[in-house]
Amino acid sequence: MNVTEKNQPGEVFLSRVRESLTDEERELLCRINPAKLPQHIAIIMDGNGRWARQRGYLDRIRGHEVGIESVRVAVRACGELGVRALTLYAFSVENWKRPKREIDALMGLLRRFLRDEIPELMENNVRLVASGRLGDLSADVRAELARTMTETQANTGLVLNLALSYGGRSEIVDAVRTIAREIQQGLLQPEEIDEARFAKYLYHPELGDPDLLIRTSGEMRVSNFLLWQIAYTEFYVTPVLWPDFRRSHLYEAILDYQRRERRFGGVKEEST
Ligand code: FPP
Repeated sequence: MNVTEKNQPGEVFLSRVRESLTDEERELLCRINPAKLPQHIAIIMDGNGRWARQRGYLDRIRGHEVGIESVRVAVRACGELGVRALTLYAFSVENWKRPKREIDALMGLLRRFLRDEIPELMENNVRLVASGRLGDLSADVRAELARTMTETQANTGLVLNLALSYGGRSEIVDAVRTIAREIQQGLLQPEEIDEARFAKYLYHPELGDPDLLIRTSGEMRVSNFLLWQIAYTEFYVTPVLWPDFRRSHLYEAILDYQRRERRFGGVKEEST
């Protein structure tokens, strides 16, 4: 693919993508209404440990390793469709409580992903950003993150937002701290704070709220993810474990989303 053909969502591009799909994927893709695409998809990538156990691996880390391929598939498929942003819950503030060996393995995978994936992100016109208490990450992970964000910053397709050392409550607390500091300095008046103004202090307000939140592995929990942003997000829970998550599962989630009627607390307009 040459530079001018870089992930430009549209009929010509998608028709080329269709050629490489399985019959099932192609059939699902054809049913997706491009005019009703979720602009921002968020995913809680759950079930890596169970996947490893079910496959008889002694080490749950194997599930995280295989989960990287699912990340690659989701990023590519969202980019091709023309989804604007994809937020992946890669490491939560609570995940620091896991055994050191698992944390080290996850950080190693993250470092490798950030380093090795740059050509793929460039090819697919993906811009990488990150949300979370990034200062908690080790200096080498932060350096890789900074490098990949810089290298991809001019890309104009999908924005891939990695939630790292992320917690919905800590994001709100961090926003409140910045607001308190600005009030202390006389830069902001308490009366000026409303919902729209508050949201500007979150990690990446420009991405907007997710339209669709997908959780794998069947758990019906929010797990401290994007607490402010999901007020009117549509939820989709699939029993599929993250390492098994493929295009067809993403397409199914989008089709399910497109069957929903979003009212944002209002009522559907009556046709007379
Ligand atoms: C939850 O599964 C998953 C995680 C805590 C980490 C997700 C990380 C990856 C998929 C790999 C790294 C990602 C990037 C973007 C480089 P779990 O371990 O809680 O599974 P379980 O509930 O079955 O035990």
